[in-house]
Amino acid sequence: MDIVIANKSHIKHATVICDTIEESAKVRGTGIAKRTPEYIISKIENGNAVIAVDGDKFAGFCYIEAWGHGKFVANSGLIVHPDYRKIGLAKKIKKTTFEYSRTKYPDAKIFGITTGLAVMKINYELGYKPVTFSELTDDPTFWKGCQTCKNYDILQRTQQKMCLCTGMMYDPKEKENKKQKHPYNSKVLQRLKNIKQALLLKKKKPAKNSIIPLEEGYISLKKVMAKFKGK
Ligand SMILES: CC(C)(COP(=O)(O)OP(=O)(O)OC[C@H]1O[C@@H](n2cnc3c(N)ncnc32)[C@H](O)[C@@H]1OP(=O)(O)O)[C@@H](O)C(=O)NCCC(=O)NCCS
Repeated sequence: MDIVIANKSHIKHATVICDTIEESAKVRGTGIAKRTPEYIISKIENGNAVIAVDGDKFAGFCYIEAWGHGKFVANSGLIVHPDYRKIGLAKKIKKTTFEYSRTKYPDAKIFGITTGLAVMKINYELGYKPVTFSELTDDPTFWKGCQTCKNYDILQRTQQKMCLCTGMMYDPKEKENKKQKHPYNSKVLQRLKNIKQALLLKKKKPAKNSIIPLEEGYISLKKVMAKFKGK
């Protein structure tokens, strides 16, 4: 398996990358921003993507994108082909992408938004912390990318304050990033996901008292995030 900065020889994988992202989102039943082959190709051509290939077969992919005039860098579109999952490939691709982003943009805050617990775990181990959306880039083009996600109405309803995705960020200025204060706790992030789903997803026929009042939900969310940050 080779994990490399993607180059023109990898353009042929653009369609299968997009198809794999779309099919995986359907299987998981979660929202995900759609990507076109043209978009993936532009990332590859600009030297802003990391690809894992097994001989001639596509195995995994992730790309980087600078926002807010290079103050922020997103590591996005992480995908591992189903044939290569659960062998630590996502972790390796993310680490390569993270180190590449650090080299290319040493002063930038590196961030991502995700609903996936696997990605949250990987991010946490790299030194990311969960943050509110207001701490991420306010570049409208970044948030425009969410328009193709099936949960976009939630982002609009909350005036871009929150959605089912969790924002996570690595701040190079925070020295303690190198060593997290607490070991990764999947239960905390699972609880964060559950609260968000109860708070933000519209149920067709809500059972009596099944919807958490908005204010109460925000408070619970803040508490869970503070716990995760070790406050
Ligand atoms: C999520 C995804 C990238 C994980 O890829 P992977 O190569 O199987 O992940 P890894 O093997 O590197 O696993 C990394 C860690 O996450 C855990 N993990 C993997 N899949 C998981 C899942 N579905 N739920 C919870 N944890 C999971 C692994 O156990 C591992 O933890 P460990 O260090 O304790 O062993 C892959 O399943 C995928 O492409 N899914 C569809 C697309 C997607 O969800 N992308 C993320 C959008 S932001």
